[in-house]
Amino acid sequence: MAMKLTFRQLEEEDALAILNWRYAFPYDYYNFDATALQENLPYMLDPENAFYAIANLQGELEGYCSFGADGRVPGGDYTAEALDIGMGIRPDLVDRGCGKLYAQAVAGYGADRYRVQQLRVTIAQFNQRAQRVWEQLGFERVEKFVKLGTTEEFVIMVGANE
Ligand SMILES: CC(C)(COP(=O)(O)OP(=O)(O)OC[C@H]1O[C@@H](n2cnc3c(N)ncnc32)[C@H](O)[C@@H]1OP(=O)(O)O)[C@@H](O)C(=O)NCCC(=O)NCCS
Repeated sequence: MAMKLTFRQLEEEDALAILNWRYAFPYDYYNFDATALQENLPYMLDPENAFYAIANLQGELEGYCSFGADGRVPGGDYTAEALDIGMGIRPDLVDRGCGKLYAQAVAGYGADRYRVQQLRVTIAQFNQRAQRVWEQLGFERVEKFVKLGTTEEFVIMVGANE
Protein backbone atom coordinates (compact mmCIF):
# COMPACT_ATOMS: atom_id res chain seq x y z
CA MET A 1 0.00 0.00 0.00
CA ALA A 2 1.40 3.41 -0.93
CA MET A 3 1.30 5.70 2.04
CA LYS A 4 2.79 9.15 2.06
CA LEU A 5 3.25 10.54 5.53
CA THR A 6 4.42 13.92 6.75
CA PHE A 7 5.64 15.06 10.13
CA ARG A 8 5.03 18.39 11.80
CA GLN A 9 5.35 19.73 15.30
CA LEU A 10 2.31 18.83 17.32
CA GLU A 11 -0.20 21.67 17.58
CA GLU A 12 -2.86 22.19 20.18
CA GLU A 13 -5.62 20.95 17.88
CA ASP A 14 -3.68 17.70 17.30
CA ALA A 15 -3.02 17.23 21.00
CA LEU A 16 -6.68 17.74 21.88
CA ALA A 17 -7.70 15.12 19.32
CA ILE A 18 -5.11 12.63 20.58
CA LEU A 19 -6.14 13.12 24.20
CA ASN A 20 -9.62 11.99 23.16
CA TRP A 21 -8.52 8.89 21.25
CA ARG A 22 -9.84 5.69 22.77
CA TYR A 23 -8.22 2.33 22.12
CA ALA A 24 -10.05 -0.95 22.67
CA PHE A 25 -8.98 -3.31 25.47
CA PRO A 26 -6.21 -4.21 26.23
CA TYR A 27 -4.74 -1.21 24.44
CA ASP A 28 -6.91 1.14 26.49
CA TYR A 29 -3.75 1.19 28.59
CA TYR A 30 -2.63 3.86 26.08
CA ASN A 31 -5.67 6.09 26.48
CA PHE A 32 -4.85 9.45 27.97
CA ASP A 33 -6.64 10.32 31.15
CA ALA A 34 -9.36 12.77 30.10
CA THR A 35 -9.40 14.27 33.59
CA ALA A 36 -5.71 15.16 33.37
CA LEU A 37 -6.03 17.46 30.36
CA GLN A 38 -4.44 20.36 32.20
CA GLU A 39 -1.28 18.32 32.68
CA ASN A 40 -1.22 16.42 29.41
CA LEU A 41 -1.80 19.29 27.02
CA PRO A 42 1.21 21.38 28.09
CA TYR A 43 3.27 18.20 28.35
CA MET A 44 2.56 17.28 24.74
CA LEU A 45 3.11 20.80 23.46
CA ASP A 46 6.39 21.34 25.33
CA PRO A 47 9.11 21.32 22.63
CA GLU A 48 11.38 19.50 25.13
CA ASN A 49 9.12 16.48 24.87
CA ALA A 50 9.42 16.48 21.07
CA PHE A 51 5.95 15.35 20.09
CA TYR A 52 5.22 15.31 16.37
CA ALA A 53 2.04 14.80 14.41
CA ILE A 54 2.03 12.15 11.70
CA ALA A 55 -0.26 13.34 8.93
CA ASN A 56 -1.33 12.06 5.54
CA LEU A 57 -1.07 14.07 2.33
CA GLN A 58 -4.40 15.70 3.08
CA GLY A 59 -2.94 16.93 6.35
CA GLU A 60 -5.19 14.69 8.41
CA LEU A 61 -3.78 13.46 11.68
CA GLU A 62 -3.04 9.73 11.54
CA GLY A 63 -0.81 9.39 14.57
CA TYR A 64 1.84 10.97 16.72
CA CYS A 65 5.33 10.21 17.87
CA SER A 66 7.74 11.51 20.46
CA PHE A 67 11.51 11.51 20.60
CA GLY A 68 13.49 11.40 23.82
CA ALA A 69 12.46 11.29 27.47
CA ASP A 70 8.77 10.64 26.82
CA GLY A 71 9.62 7.20 25.48
CA ARG A 72 11.53 6.09 28.57
CA VAL A 73 9.98 4.16 31.45
CA PRO A 74 11.37 4.40 35.01
CA GLY A 75 13.38 1.29 35.87
CA GLY A 76 14.83 0.72 32.42
CA ASP A 77 18.52 0.98 31.65
CA TYR A 78 19.01 3.92 29.31
CA THR A 79 22.76 4.38 29.71
CA ALA A 80 23.48 3.44 26.10
CA GLU A 81 23.22 6.34 23.67
CA ALA A 82 20.11 5.97 21.52
CA LEU A 83 17.08 7.96 20.42
CA ASP A 84 13.99 6.86 22.35
CA ILE A 85 10.83 6.70 20.28
CA GLY A 86 7.23 6.72 21.41
CA MET A 87 4.29 6.48 19.03
CA GLY A 88 0.58 6.00 18.69
CA ILE A 89 -1.60 5.53 15.62
CA ARG A 90 -5.21 6.78 15.51
CA PRO A 91 -7.42 4.05 16.98
CA ASP A 92 -9.49 3.56 13.80
CA LEU A 93 -6.30 2.95 11.81
CA VAL A 94 -4.68 0.29 14.01
CA ASP A 95 -4.81 -3.45 13.42
CA ARG A 96 -4.83 -3.07 9.65
CA GLY A 97 -1.34 -4.28 8.99
CA CYS A 98 0.10 -0.78 8.54
CA GLY A 99 2.05 -0.65 11.80
CA LYS A 100 5.34 -1.42 10.11
CA LEU A 101 4.92 1.41 7.60
CA TYR A 102 4.14 3.95 10.31
CA ALA A 103 7.00 2.76 12.52
CA GLN A 104 9.42 2.83 9.59
CA ALA A 105 8.44 6.41 8.77
CA VAL A 106 8.84 7.46 12.41
CA ALA A 107 12.23 5.75 12.73
CA GLY A 108 13.42 7.38 9.51
CA TYR A 109 12.24 10.82 10.53
CA GLY A 110 13.78 10.52 14.01
CA ALA A 111 17.10 9.23 12.72
CA ASP A 112 17.33 12.07 10.18
CA ARG A 113 16.26 14.78 12.54
CA TYR A 114 18.46 13.74 15.44
CA ARG A 115 21.28 12.30 13.34
CA VAL A 116 21.56 9.14 15.39
CA GLN A 117 22.22 5.58 14.42
CA GLN A 118 20.76 3.74 17.37
CA LEU A 119 17.03 3.85 17.95
CA ARG A 120 15.22 2.48 20.99
CA VAL A 121 11.63 1.70 21.96
CA THR A 122 10.25 0.69 25.35
CA ILE A 123 7.10 -1.40 25.07
CA ALA A 124 4.76 -2.97 27.62
CA GLN A 125 5.33 -6.72 27.71
CA PHE A 126 1.65 -7.39 27.03
CA ASN A 127 1.78 -5.34 23.85
CA GLN A 128 2.91 -8.08 21.47
CA ARG A 129 1.46 -6.18 18.54
CA ALA A 130 3.86 -3.27 18.96
CA GLN A 131 6.78 -5.61 19.67
CA ARG A 132 6.02 -7.46 16.45
CA VAL A 133 6.15 -4.23 14.47
CA TRP A 134 9.59 -3.26 15.76
CA GLU A 135 10.84 -6.82 15.42
CA GLN A 136 9.88 -6.65 11.77
CA LEU A 137 12.07 -3.57 11.46
CA GLY A 138 15.01 -5.53 12.83
CA PHE A 139 14.86 -4.28 16.40
CA GLU A 140 16.09 -6.68 19.09
CA ARG A 141 15.08 -7.05 22.71
CA VAL A 142 17.93 -5.96 24.95
CA GLU A 143 16.23 -5.74 28.33
CA LYS A 144 13.12 -6.77 30.21
CA PHE A 145 12.28 -4.93 33.42
CA VAL A 146 9.51 -4.00 35.81
CA LYS A 147 8.43 -0.36 35.85
CA LEU A 148 9.44 1.22 39.14
CA GLY A 149 6.66 1.25 41.69
CA THR A 150 4.45 -1.12 39.67
CA THR A 151 4.28 -4.78 38.62
CA GLU A 152 4.10 -3.86 34.91
CA GLU A 153 6.69 -5.55 32.73
CA PHE A 154 8.35 -3.72 29.85
CA VAL A 155 10.87 -4.63 27.20
CA ILE A 156 13.45 -2.39 25.58
CA MET A 157 14.17 -2.99 21.91
CA VAL A 158 17.06 -1.44 20.02
CA GLY A 159 17.62 -1.09 16.31
CA ALA A 160 19.15 0.96 13.55
CA ASN A 161 17.52 3.13 10.94
CA GLU A 162 17.45 1.09 7.75
C1 LIG B 1 1.67 -0.27 17.93
C2 LIG B 1 1.01 0.16 16.62
C3 LIG B 1 1.81 1.26 15.97
C4 LIG B 1 0.98 -1.06 15.68
O1 LIG B 1 0.33 -0.74 14.50
P1 LIG B 1 -0.88 -1.62 13.94
O2 LIG B 1 -1.25 -1.05 12.64
O3 LIG B 1 -1.93 -1.73 14.97
O4 LIG B 1 -0.20 -3.05 13.78
P2 LIG B 1 -0.44 -4.10 12.61
O5 LIG B 1 -1.89 -4.27 12.32
O6 LIG B 1 0.46 -3.74 11.47
O7 LIG B 1 0.09 -5.42 13.29
C5 LIG B 1 1.44 -5.59 13.58
C6 LIG B 1 1.76 -7.06 13.80
O8 LIG B 1 1.25 -7.47 15.07
C7 LIG B 1 0.48 -8.64 14.91
N1 LIG B 1 -0.50 -8.67 15.97
C8 LIG B 1 -1.67 -8.02 16.06
N2 LIG B 1 -2.28 -8.28 17.23
C9 LIG B 1 -1.46 -9.13 17.89
C10 LIG B 1 -1.53 -9.79 19.16
N3 LIG B 1 -2.55 -9.60 19.97
N4 LIG B 1 -0.50 -10.59 19.53
C11 LIG B 1 0.57 -10.78 18.71
N5 LIG B 1 0.68 -10.20 17.50
C12 LIG B 1 -0.32 -9.37 17.11
C13 LIG B 1 -0.08 -8.52 13.52
O9 LIG B 1 -0.49 -9.78 13.02
C14 LIG B 1 1.12 -7.97 12.77
O10 LIG B 1 2.09 -8.98 12.56
P3 LIG B 1 2.29 -9.66 11.12
O11 LIG B 1 2.76 -8.56 10.22
O12 LIG B 1 3.32 -10.70 11.37
O13 LIG B 1 0.95 -10.19 10.73
C15 LIG B 1 -0.45 0.64 16.85
O14 LIG B 1 -1.24 -0.47 17.18
C16 LIG B 1 -0.60 1.68 17.95
O15 LIG B 1 -0.34 2.84 17.73
N6 LIG B 1 -1.09 1.24 19.15
C17 LIG B 1 -1.39 2.10 20.28
C18 LIG B 1 -0.18 2.65 20.95
C19 LIG B 1 0.88 1.62 21.25
O16 LIG B 1 0.66 0.43 21.33
N7 LIG B 1 2.09 2.08 21.49
C20 LIG B 1 3.21 1.19 21.75
C21 LIG B 1 4.48 1.91 21.77
S1 LIG B 1 5.38 1.78 20.21
